[in-house]
Amino acid sequence: MSLDSEKQLAAIEAVKYVKSGMTVGLGTGSTAAHMVKELGRLVQDGLEIVGVPSSENTNKLATELGIPLTTLEKTNGIDVYIDGTDEFDPYMQLIKGGGGALLREKILTYNSNLVIIIADSKKEVKRLGYFKLPVETIPFATKKIEQLLQKMGLHPKLRLKDGSNFVTDEGNFILDLDIAHVSNIQLLESNLKQIPGIVETGLFLDMADIIIIGKGENTITLR
Ligand code: 5RP
Repeated sequence: MSLDSEKQLAAIEAVKYVKSGMTVGLGTGSTAAHMVKELGRLVQDGLEIVGVPSSENTNKLATELGIPLTTLEKTNGIDVYIDGTDEFDPYMQLIKGGGGALLREKILTYNSNLVIIIADSKKEVKRLGYFKLPVETIPFATKKIEQLLQKMGLHPKLRLKDGSNFVTDEGNFILDLDIAHVSNIQLLESNLKQIPGIVETGLFLDMADIIIIGKGENTITLR
């Protein structure tokens, strides 16, 4: 089985938690796209849901598939949020934001009753930090934050796209940090959040309720 098939298996399993009448948070990325496609198929078959997309890309895909959409402020909260991840550890802690949508993703996660993370088997790590940690920064402050994070030993790299700065859906930049050597992830999160101009980090700590992993031809569910 390819990694893409594992992503699809996890996505199909996650969608089983979605019932008619629910408001569903729609994540971003290639794994989440499988979930959006599966929901689109079920909506065509009569499933009645309203989606809240976490990015312009997901908004476009869901619209093309005919999934009715709304925005966070128009809902009374989200029943279930389904999204991919870049890494997860044995304690269900995550690094997200490889696709650059971490800010809206974290806001939707925070406002959801049930958070389901879907992943292929390569996303499982013993400890976080193989993947570079994305941090979303306000453009005005990014250079200074970059210098500070360099002094902190986090080797920040400004994310680029087609030779220019990558710009998030909220108009911000992303610094990707090397946290492989960091042992206290909770302390890192709190230290980063205290720096003015850092809007959000890709550390999703104690936020996942369920992780569904595609492994070969099966899925494994962690709670
Ligand atoms: C986007 C994300 C994605 O969920 C994460 O990057 C995983 O992407 P993929 O499913 O394509 O591997 O956090 O901001």
